[in-house]
Amino acid sequence: MRVPVAIIGAGPAGMLLSHLLAADGVESVIIEARSEAYVLARIRAGILEQSSVQLLRSVGLGRRLEQEGMEHRGIYLQIPGERHHLDFVDLVGRSVWVYGQTEVQKDLVGARTAGGQRIFYEAGDVALHDVTTECPHVTFAAADGTPQRIDADVVVGCDGSFGPSRSAIPDGVKQVWQYTYPYSWLGVLADVAPSTDELIYAWHPDGFALHSMRSPDVSRFYLQVPDDTDVNEWSHRQIWDALARRLGEGIDDWSLQTGPITECSVLPMRSYVQSPMRYGRLFLAGDAAHIVPPTGAKGLNLAIADVALLAPALTALLKHHSGPADAYSDAALHRVWRCTHFSWWMTRMLHQSGDPFDAQLQLSQLRWVFTSDAAATGLAENYAGLPLEGPDRTIFRAPGTADTSTGKGQTYSPSA
Ligand code: FAD
Ligand code: PHB
Repeated sequence: MRVPVAIIGAGPAGMLLSHLLAADGVESVIIEARSEAYVLARIRAGILEQSSVQLLRSVGLGRRLEQEGMEHRGIYLQIPGERHHLDFVDLVGRSVWVYGQTEVQKDLVGARTAGGQRIFYEAGDVALHDVTTECPHVTFAAADGTPQRIDADVVVGCDGSFGPSRSAIPDGVKQVWQYTYPYSWLGVLADVAPSTDELIYAWHPDGFALHSMRSPDVSRFYLQVPDDTDVNEWSHRQIWDALARRLGEGIDDWSLQTGPITECSVLPMRSYVQSPMRYGRLFLAGDAAHIVPPTGAKGLNLAIADVALLAPALTALLKHHSGPADAYSDAALHRVWRCTHFSWWMTRMLHQSGDPFDAQLQLSQLRWVFTSDAAATGLAENYAGLPLEGPDRTIFRAPGTADTSTGKGQTYSPSA
């Protein structure tokens, strides 16, 4: 089989990339290791930046988001006895949306199915070949075991942190920066109405806690726990007690509503950045190139920002053999490092490290955010997210709406 673009991974990065390329008339095939049901059921991120929402809306993926997503003006940040609201709309004129990654994935699968997207689910032994030549290809075993080969003009690794794409860039070429945080999150999903109108990020001597949500009837919570915690060490009673204590039950008569817990898992936390995000005819996007700890709610948004840059760059490369593809890696890494720093900063400000000196610095920093417009604005600007920019520093425009000199609207078909 020959296609212009072979995409490895059907998570949000891979699916959205195929959607943006299709809107520009560029065909792609997606190769995914897991089943469609598995990919749809994974519970992950919950917050979309304003620019992610604008992008999804601009490419026809906003219908359910508008009906079911919840727009939030900001977040609450708290220390024991004090809960402060940061209003991002007042501070930086931008809001965020609560809309789960599972919902984004559902919308993408629906749109790509309607668009006739070819996706090989349950692919085994996925391998990349000849990515520095004009004829890269991907081999794998299809779900029924038959060997497959896809020849492409370009291969895009959207296969997360465990896929084969990032290691297809040799050690002598790539640079990697990583940091593992000395704590994890216990993530809890519960069938109970949120006890707050906006997310609560809580610093507490027992450890960080976060009250998030998925809908008016479903709440999402996180507790800082030691690394290597076994989820079975925590009874549901202990979880609710720890959440109530850390989230400040009793502050101004606030109380935490409890309900049936439907999912519980432990998430390790790390930062990882790999550069370059392009090697010959291989491009990386999303978690394949970078991982952030979830405290800044950036992982999914960064994946969306990468493909917003990459789709027009690939369209120009494939249709005109030129354009911003050369600038993709540097442009994407610009935002990646900003989000890496912000996620690290939020994480380090809110989690107990066990060092009492650190704890005093954290409290001082939090009080600074509570009392200084400059500090609060910095947090708001990063959390609500910067506008999506192209490598040429123009704002992202939906496929088909851009200037026709780029060739948009023409259908690209494979050269062979
Ligand atoms: P992924 O969603 O990881 O998609 C990669 C895809 O590639 C997957 O479908 C995978 O099955 C597939 N794949 C892997 N190996 C292969 C292979 N060999 N061949 C073919 N396909 C392969 N971010 C937040 O902002 N907030 C959160 O609360 C949050 N929670 C998270 C919880 C977990 C457990 C994880 C892992 C991540 C979480 N994240 C969170 C991060 C966020 O979900 C990711 O940043 C986002 O999913 C990135 O999208 P992606 O498409 O790049 O990668
Ligand atoms: C979530 O709802 O899963 C969520 C929200 C905000 C974060 C991390 C996770 O910072």
